[in-house]
Amino acid sequence: MPATPKKRSTGSRARSNGRHNNRRSGTDAISLLKQDHQKVRQLLKRLQSDGTEELLREIENELKVHTQIEEEIFYPAFKEAVESGKDEHLYYEAIEEHHVVDLVLPEIKSSSEGSEEFDAKAKVLADLVEHHAEEEETEMFPKARKAMGTTRLRELGEELQERKQELMGGLGGRPERRKRVA
Ligand SMILES: [Fe+2]
Ligand SMILES: [Fe+2]
Repeated sequence: MPATPKKRSTGSRARSNGRHNNRRSGTDAISLLKQDHQKVRQLLKRLQSDGTEELLREIENELKVHTQIEEEIFYPAFKEAVESGKDEHLYYEAIEEHHVVDLVLPEIKSSSEGSEEFDAKAKVLADLVEHHAEEEETEMFPKARKAMGTTRLRELGEELQERKQELMGGLGGRPERRKRVA
């Protein structure tokens, strides 16, 4: 499989009615999520050497959007694809790990920039995120690829991309629950 991640997919915004044009835009769900991981990894690395509140806010936004699109779109699709069986636990674990990240974030925000405490919490956050992202990349994603196949992954990639753009545009407000097409 030639995994050629697209740097940007300007096409999906113009005609993004989902379903029909997935072949053209071709963003695979797994590539998209992995790109997010890379971005957050870099930001977290930076946070440990120069931890500023501004950078922390950026990380928080990235993490919120990423975990939300996973929970709304990718994880349920994964769960459905592996239906029951021994891989379903990955779905539940992943959600719990997101939850732990949610708990740590406000902790860091409440400690002052440049303090030992801030740095220590930033390190804990980075470790948590790394553990989680690695588990997705080495366990969940390969299983998802196998269970879903290329067409489904592209379709999901498109959905993820759309939802991501929607959420990034509306940061600050409480994003509205996505309508599920059952
Ligand atoms: Fe995740
Ligand atoms: Fe992820």
